[in-house]
Amino acid sequence: NKKKILAVSGSLRQQSSNTAILQAAARIGYDRFEFTMYNGMGTLPHFNPEMDLEGDAEPAPVKELRSLLRAADGVLICTPEYANGVPGSLKNALDWIVSSGEFYDKPTAAISASPNPLGGDKAHASLLLTLKMLTAKIAEGATLMIPMVSKKLNAAGDVTDLQTLQALEALLYALEREIDDNTKTSPN
Ligand code: FNR
Repeated sequence: NKKKILAVSGSLRQQSSNTAILQAAARIGYDRFEFTMYNGMGTLPHFNPEMDLEGDAEPAPVKELRSLLRAADGVLICTPEYANGVPGSLKNALDWIVSSGEFYDKPTAAISASPNPLGGDKAHASLLLTLKMLTAKIAEGATLMIPMVSKKLNAAGDVTDLQTLQALEALLYALEREIDDNTKTSPN
């Protein structure tokens, strides 16, 4: 019985290195996890509390994101840093979850990847602050910063750097443990 992971990239770019990292994680964990790549980020409306309605009035892309999160045993986010912060599109997606609470106790792993030597440290820190506010469960070892990411991928977007592959493997184990603990302690 494979664990369901919702993978969320903070980049909308076709050739995104962050999306490539998520695809690498999906390949590494294919025997234990079933990955769903969230692809609705670009169609989410800008968060507006007045549009945050229930039932038929709930915007369809918001409904989709919330149900994907509910169906997932765990969430894996990989984000770039824009202007020292989390990309607006990712923050926007997370803002839609404040009222609906799908991140409550949700086993979550957070990666940032950047071509620069700091690995998107400021976006990473900011993402963790937001996830903690949403009461996501962030396992020990389930966070990772990937510096110089462009040197760790080949032209096809495969991760070719051994250390990065090992770090992704370790992160998936941490996320898996968190999911296992979660199913032991709570019925849902
Ligand atoms: C960036 N980039 C960037 N990188 C970083 O480490 N810190 C930063 O503050 C920024 N700021 C920033 C602003 C803007 C407008 C752009 C276009 C880029 C570089 C960024 O990390 C790089 O473009 C990554 O490749 C983006 O990730 P994806 O799209 O490859 O996943």
